Amino acid sequence: MLIKNCFSLGIIFTIMIMAVNLSASTIAMKVDSLLNQMTLKEKIGQLNQYSSTWQLTGPKPTQKGNEERYEDLTNGMVGSMLNVVTVDEIKRAQELVVENSRLGIPLLFGLDVIHGYKTMFPIPLAQAASWDMQAIEKSARIAAKEASASGITWTFSPMVDLTRDPRWGRIIECAGEDPYLGARFGKAMVRGYQGKDLSTDNTIAACTKHFAAYGAPEAGREYNRVSISNYDLYNIYLPPYKATIDEGVSTVMNAFNTLNGVPATGNQFLVNEILRGKWNFSGFILSDWATISELITHGVAKDMKQATKIAITGGTDVDMESSAYIDYLEELILEGEVDEELLDQAVRRILTVKFELGLFDDPYKYCSKEREKEQAYTEKNHKAALEMAKKSIVLLKNENDILPLSKEIERIAVVGPLAADKDAPLGNWRCQAKSNSAVSLLSAIKNSVSSKTKINYAKGCNLVKMDGDYQDYKPVQVNETDTTGIQQAVKAAQNSDVIIAAVGETALLSGEGRSRQNIDLPGVQKTLLQELKKTGKPLVVVLFNGRPLTINWTEQNASAIVEGWLAGSQSGNALASVLFGDYNPSGKLPVTFPRNVGQIPIYYNQLNTGRPKLDENTVFVSRYIDGPNTPLYPFGYGLSYTDFKYDNLKISDNRISEDQTLQVKVDVKNTGQRKGEEIVQLYIRDLIASYARPIKELKGFKKISLEPGQKETVKFYLDRDKLSFYNNQYEKICEPGQFEVMVGGNSVDLLKTSFKMVE
Ligand code: BGC
Repeated sequence: MLIKNCFSLGIIFTIMIMAVNLSASTIAMKVDSLLNQMTLKEKIGQLNQYSSTWQLTGPKPTQKGNEERYEDLTNGMVGSMLNVVTVDEIKRAQELVVENSRLGIPLLFGLDVIHGYKTMFPIPLAQAASWDMQAIEKSARIAAKEASASGITWTFSPMVDLTRDPRWGRIIECAGEDPYLGARFGKAMVRGYQGKDLSTDNTIAACTKHFAAYGAPEAGREYNRVSISNYDLYNIYLPPYKATIDEGVSTVMNAFNTLNGVPATGNQFLVNEILRGKWNFSGFILSDWATISELITHGVAKDMKQATKIAITGGTDVDMESSAYIDYLEELILEGEVDEELLDQAVRRILTVKFELGLFDDPYKYCSKEREKEQAYTEKNHKAALEMAKKSIVLLKNENDILPLSKEIERIAVVGPLAADKDAPLGNWRCQAKSNSAVSLLSAIKNSVSSKTKINYAKGCNLVKMDGDYQDYKPVQVNETDTTGIQQAVKAAQNSDVIIAAVGETALLSGEGRSRQNIDLPGVQKTLLQELKKTGKPLVVVLFNGRPLTINWTEQNASAIVEGWLAGSQSGNALASVLFGDYNPSGKLPVTFPRNVGQIPIYYNQLNTGRPKLDENTVFVSRYIDGPNTPLYPFGYGLSYTDFKYDNLKISDNRISEDQTLQVKVDVKNTGQRKGEEIVQLYIRDLIASYARPIKELKGFKKISLEPGQKETVKFYLDRDKLSFYNNQYEKICEPGQFEVMVGGNSVDLLKTSFKMVE
């Protein structure tokens, strides 16, 4: 019976593979036949991408005016557009091309759908704090459904730029500092956007970005150089990109930065050697905004013609907003400077995605007002956004179990510049979300407490707000140093039993182009908290932020701290459900919180150094003389309203060979009074190797749910792949020797055992 089942499963599997291959070969034939009909100019047109002018996400293009762009569209000189939104506008642009150009090749419509389209989910960094891959996949799935109904066929996501620098504003868009978590996150996102079949009208092509190492700008300053060793590149920064390629992502975007002196755009090593060479990536690659023309500013090309040559030979298929290919590629090919075969390959890759999406069968299939009405901004999507937001929240401190609060509490002071804010939680890259459309903390608290509870609200102080989006934003004139409102907040606190203070960053203080030198609470928010503290009332701080903040005073003085990030449309409801105990927080930090900017870059998977710090009194060790090495909150950290006890860490063997798999088991018991979820984390340390290895590396995690008193044995497996690392030649090596295995609820409090890998 079993054999028979296996046999029929095998047949089904073979048929499935044949069907995929068949459709791939049919598409390849169609692509070739179309390519044969195309003129040189038309082929180059497919590589050209313009942005709409009404929503710029980069500097204003200078190369071509509106009239010329319009003409290019009708002449088939444009292959894709970005930032065109709404069904009507997308249809209009598609019609322009399909009805007027000689071959009527449909456009791709790309957009930065990063954490939702109309219904906003938490920023990616917050989603990563859930460590819940199913929920993350679902949030991308819903974003794809909403965006595709409006005609979007392609999202510039997932962004998997690992970072160790919270000064960098784009930390909001990634999964934090860990290669393993980042890889799992990237894969989940790709599955969510692309689904199983790209030709379905509610799946969209995804785009892994920014290749590569954009998350390590020197000094945390946006667009700055990236200088990292091959060792870190291979072991730390590349794995999340590779994971998305393995998951079948359709496209990849170049990055703005130089990597060890060479711009990432047109980078032979990154693109031709790694991405195409070692990883066999067969989709197409696009530049980031104007990065081809920026080859001139970087100082590696003397003019646009040379920049064009570098980019096309360095593997960039699509030119976003440089107008380089459309102006210079023909000339370069006619002069014999660029092989036309390179162009043909690029066109093939682009047309393949268009066929896969089904655009040749119906160029308007993604534009559907009915589907928009039925599937976008629905109650169901908001429910999913609420679930995701709840899972993203991290409880950082809870002295004397002050939280959760009773809903019957008599008087609550709700204070702070973000308490009533409906905009900050939407974060940056908010697509079609309406400004000020999030549920504020204040309104959610009002809806949560009993009718007898009195809420005393005061804003306390101002926080800089930006008016408008992206490039065009202007700071709204507020007096950030004004302390006159603090008195009212103090009064509200004096008349209450507990204070909930909502502080942090507004939406546009993080994101692209928003690096900060100082990551304390901006403005006079700390003074506000200090004055509130003087009232002697319990102080519960709720953080709104797109990055780790240096909040030492708050850690020392608040009774409780809830990390609420920028949690999307349902932010307030999610926070209220945590504050009043309807939801038991389970999030864990995907990134280390420093005590001081001077510690940056700070991360858990550091090397031991030759002189690790062992005590306070030794001078010649790796340390600071003016502060500790340890972070404020470590990677993987987060509390719950219940307690979990780890016990009985066991491994299946004390010695294994390279081809054996080690089983790791640990008992986790809920020893508290409430049901709760715990993210059980597995770390290893390769104690002796030919390269210095990190003191800890995450190699697995499991999210479990336990009733009070319930115990579960959690199992992990360590195989050759997980015990290997890359050498400087980008070879994955596994070396015999002693390994430590550590399991726990964060990267510091861990049970430990060890085994030996024998030859
Ligand atoms: C960003 C990309 C984005 C592109 C298009 C660039 O400035 O770096 O992440 O996809 O703009 O909006």
